[in-house]
Amino acid sequence: MALRLAGYAPDMTAALDVDDLHKAFGPIEALRGVSLRVEAGQVVGLLGPNGAGKSTLVKVLCGLVRPSAGSARVSGHRAGSTGARASLGYLAELFRFPPWLSVEEVVAFHQQLAGSRGGQAERARLIERVGMGHAASRRVDALSKGMQQRLGIAQALVGEPQVVILDEPTSALDPEGRRMVRELVADLRVEGRAVLLSSHLLAEVEQVCDEVVILRRGEVAGSGSVDGLASEHTVTIVTGSGTEVHVAARADVPGLVAGYVERGEEVFEVRPDVNRLEEAYLDLVEDR
Ligand SMILES: Nc1ncnc2c1ncn2[C@@H]1O[C@H](COP(=O)(O)OP(=O)(O)O)[C@@H](O)[C@H]1O
Ligand SMILES: [Mg+2]
Repeated sequence: MALRLAGYAPDMTAALDVDDLHKAFGPIEALRGVSLRVEAGQVVGLLGPNGAGKSTLVKVLCGLVRPSAGSARVSGHRAGSTGARASLGYLAELFRFPPWLSVEEVVAFHQQLAGSRGGQAERARLIERVGMGHAASRRVDALSKGMQQRLGIAQALVGEPQVVILDEPTSALDPEGRRMVRELVADLRVEGRAVLLSSHLLAEVEQVCDEVVILRRGEVAGSGSVDGLASEHTVTIVTGSGTEVHVAARADVPGLVAGYVERGEEVFEVRPDVNRLEEAYLDLVEDR
């Protein structure tokens, strides 16, 4: 039996461990030395322009694409091995379920593929979790794209995987569906699972992810917490005598507000700008 001591984990195996990964498709170098780690209980956003290599990285982790060089491990197992697959749940960017199956049958099918013994209880729980309880018996060909994406997320969670990889899970979702995904990802974190989330919706990534990895032309252009990446940003301060915008690091904000208060100003609002990740992202991926 494994003994777990909080805060003491000298040789803790990372949920995802990618080291100097390369992948070439003929002359196209999709990945050129990518390294990253995702720990249990961590949600990491995978960002980058179209063609940066996000889906290729995800496919290597799932064992769908063989790397040209470097290593990729899932819960300590080589990507693509039985052990790696057993600890991984995956929603592909592009997927199609058999149109004649019902929602419940799709989940049952994936239970079989994953060797899950969760049975009817697991199906009901997952279908309910993605807000599809009312449509459990509906056929795939009668579902909207957004409903199919919800089903795709349910399918990724079959068998309680310790590592969950979601490639653009919210692209077809309405605002309610997006919120559902945010809450779900937060729940997965609390349960100590690891999540790698690829998305173009930076505000969403900023809300839900602990860290981000930004790919650009097959390389890591930047990584870390949003606060770390967006070192400078603007803060709008609204006082009794007007509105002022400051360029300030996060650490400068308390002093800034204290200054207003010392001068006898009434401070009504302190608004950090909402697109910090977008700014940091564009700085890293554009040549500006
Ligand atoms: N099966 C493949 N054969 C040839 N080139 C591919 C294949 N898959 C991806 N690529 C190329 O690899 C690069 C990275 O693609 P991809 O990983 O899909 O990027 P992203 O998901 O970030 O948009 C692109 O130039 C793409 O055209
Ligand atoms: Mg992609």
